[in-house]
Amino acid sequence: MVRLNWGMIGGGEGSQIGPAHQLAARLDDRFQFVAGALDQDPSAGRDFGRRLGLDPERSYGSWREMLEAERSRPDRVDLVTVATPNSTHYEIAKAFLDSGFNVLCEKPMTVTEAEAEDLVLTARKADRICAVNYGYTGYALVRHMRAMISRGDLGQIRLVVVEFAHGHHANMADADNPRVRWRYDPAQAGISAQFADCGIHALHLASFVTGQQVIRLSSDFASCLPGRVLEDDAMVNFRLDGGTVGRLWTSSVAIGRQHGLTIQVFGETGGLRWEQEHPNQLRYMPLGQRLQVIERGEAELSPEADLASRVTIGHAEGMPLAFANIYRDLSESLLARRSGRTADPARTLYPTTEDGLRSVAAIHAAVASAKAEGAWTDARPRLFR
Ligand code: NAI
Repeated sequence: MVRLNWGMIGGGEGSQIGPAHQLAARLDDRFQFVAGALDQDPSAGRDFGRRLGLDPERSYGSWREMLEAERSRPDRVDLVTVATPNSTHYEIAKAFLDSGFNVLCEKPMTVTEAEAEDLVLTARKADRICAVNYGYTGYALVRHMRAMISRGDLGQIRLVVVEFAHGHHANMADADNPRVRWRYDPAQAGISAQFADCGIHALHLASFVTGQQVIRLSSDFASCLPGRVLEDDAMVNFRLDGGTVGRLWTSSVAIGRQHGLTIQVFGETGGLRWEQEHPNQLRYMPLGQRLQVIERGEAELSPEADLASRVTIGHAEGMPLAFANIYRDLSESLLARRSGRTADPARTLYPTTEDGLRSVAAIHAAVASAKAEGAWTDARPRLFR
C-alpha cells in the first residue's frame, strides 16, 4: 500500500488536540508520521518528537525550520496538520501552501476574514488542499443524517437546533491555566472565544447535515466570569440559504455538561437528534410514528455511513475514529491527485478551506451582531456574496 508522509505543527506534549491527530492520521496506515515542530518551546518540541519516534533530523524546533528543511527533501511531507493556537494558523498554513504543501488546519482557520479569504485564494492558486478540521463531520451517523436529509427523508427542513455547551472553563481557579488562558486572550484567540472555539463546530455541523449555508445571524454574547474580555456563552439565531431556521447555544460555563455537542433537525415529515457523547445512536422521529433508534453499523444505512463506520454494530466508536475519517478522506484526495484519477466523492467529505472561510465570516458577523444588541447581520463571506 502507498503510504503518505504526514507532519504536524503544534500538538505538543500535554496539548488537547495533538493526541487525537496522532491517532487519527495513522489509524488506516495511509499516513506515516515523519516530521513535526510540535511545541512553542523548541527544545521541548524536538525532545517530544524524538520520543514519539521521529527521526531527530525531522523533529524540528520551529515551523520555519521545518518548512525550510522539508521543502528540499524528496520525501517531504504530503500533508501537514496545523494544531497550534488560533492566531498562528494563517501564517503557518499560508507559508506551507505557498511552498506547495497540502494542509489540514485546525479551526477556526484564521482570525480575520481577510486572512481566511487569502487562504482560499492561496490554496486555489497553488492547487493544494487546505482542509479544516471540523472533525465531528467524520462520524458515521452525522454522515447518515446528511444522506437522509439530502434524499428527502424529512421533507423540507424547517428547523435546525445545535448546542455545544460544556462546563470546563467555569472555574475561576483555572483563569491562569495556560491551556485555558489563551482561549480568552484576544491576542491569541482573536475576537471571539467560545463561539469561535466551539460554536462554529455546531454552526458548521448545521450546514453540513442540511447542505445549506448560513446567510445571516443575530447573536447575544455574555462573559459570565468576571475579568473575561471575550465571551464564554453565546446564543445565536441564524438563517440558512434553503429557508431553514437555525438556533445555536454554546457555553463553557455550563457546569456538569461534559462535551455537549448535539444537533436536532426538524423537517416536514420527521425529526432527527444526535449527540456527540452517544455517537453510535441517531434518534429518528417520523411524523405520526414511534421513535426509532438508528444504530451505527446496522444494515441498510447510507453508503456514506457504511464507509465511515469502522467496527461492528454494538461496539462503541468515538471521536478519534471520526477524525480518522477526515484523514482517510484526505488520503483519498491526495492519492487520486497523485495518480491522476478522480477522487470518490463519497470518500472526500472533509471540510474545505471555503468552509473555514464561512466560519470565520460567521464569527465576525456574530461579534458584530452581539455588539449591536443582536441586530441581524449578513454572515456570508464577502468572497461569496
Ligand atoms: P493547547 O494549548 O492544548 O496546545 C497547543 C500546542 O501548540 C502546544 O503543544 C504548544 O506548545 C503548541 N504551539 C503553540 N505555538 C506553537 C508554534 N508557534 N509552533 C509550534 N507549536 C506551537 O491547544 P489545543 O486545545 O490543542 O488547540 C490547538 C488548536 O486546535 C486550536 O486552534 C483549537 O481551536 C483547535 N482545537 C480543535 C478541536 C477540534 O475538535 N477540531 C478540539 C480542540 C482544539
